[in-house]
Amino acid sequence: MSTPVDFNDRMLSLGLARVAEQAAIASAEWIGRGNEKAADQAAVNAMREQLNQLDIKGVVVIGEGERDEAPMLYIGEEVGTGDGPGVDIALDPLEGTTLTAKDMPNALTVIAMGPRGSMLHAPDTYMDKLAIGPGYEDGVVSLDMTAAERVQALAAAKGCDASDITVCILERPRHEAMIAEVRETGAGIRLITDGDVAGVMHCAEPEVTGIDMYMGTGGAPEGVLAAAALKCMGGQMFGRLVFRNDDEKARAAKAGITDLDRIYTRDEMVTADVIFAATGVTGGSLLPRIMKEPGWTTTETLLMRSKTGSVRRMSYRNPTGK
Ligand code: FBP
Repeated sequence: MSTPVDFNDRMLSLGLARVAEQAAIASAEWIGRGNEKAADQAAVNAMREQLNQLDIKGVVVIGEGERDEAPMLYIGEEVGTGDGPGVDIALDPLEGTTLTAKDMPNALTVIAMGPRGSMLHAPDTYMDKLAIGPGYEDGVVSLDMTAAERVQALAAAKGCDASDITVCILERPRHEAMIAEVRETGAGIRLITDGDVAGVMHCAEPEVTGIDMYMGTGGAPEGVLAAAALKCMGGQMFGRLVFRNDDEKARAAKAGITDLDRIYTRDEMVTADVIFAATGVTGGSLLPRIMKEPGWTTTETLLMRSKTGSVRRMSYRNPTGK
């Protein structure tokens, strides 16, 4: 449930857009260069530098990994000037490193901010995810249903045939059975090779994107970021952590998670009002690509506040001097 905590989100949101913009500009140098690591590092450096200019007492709760494996923007890192409200920050400096390296659609820089304690400290494991857009009764679909039952339930709620439903799924061997089951229902499937934050966000505007539902396992940190986005855009989302070994269970314990089978709703992953910013790196159905022309770089950023439901699309034309 949302709590009316004021963390100066109105003014901070503009700063958050800058953070996403600069990360995108930095990683754009690496579009199509076949180097995921360099693209990610460029985005990390830029995001950290910008975050440290914001007047916040920020803590990274969803970041680049544990402190011993990520030197920057690690989970628990304190960011900001230290003057200002205490905030939780979830970020993915480059969501779609492979998409960027291969110059494929929908690579984004992503960041969300909420009051301290507002975001699930999801460990770096997988999460089974299910999302639909706004306007449906609570719980019309659930993670406990089979893939086919979800399609049929959504079709019934939408008042259409299963064949009129389109489901977005990450193309992975682990999803083969799910894909086959959805195909059996007659529903369409939009397969994506990476980038399930964008995949989930597509559900919020089915009339624009043509996607009604997202399902499948992907990164748990990306799950919390997607929940923050849907909290701003509207729509339902459910997530259940998936553990492949004891090390991953230990990561969950370290993050304070005791019930390993728990299904989290959107508002249990993100418990208070948040702000969310994403800038397009490679162009896609959500955001256009960074544009470079002599003397200028132009970005487009989606900036949203869940408290008001406001959605800004901000175009930024930055002189490069070259
Ligand atoms: P990266 O940007 O870190 O490469 O992540 C991209 C991504 O596709 C996420 O959107 C998704 O949640 C995750 O990877 C899926 O993981 P995997 O590639 O192991 O299936």
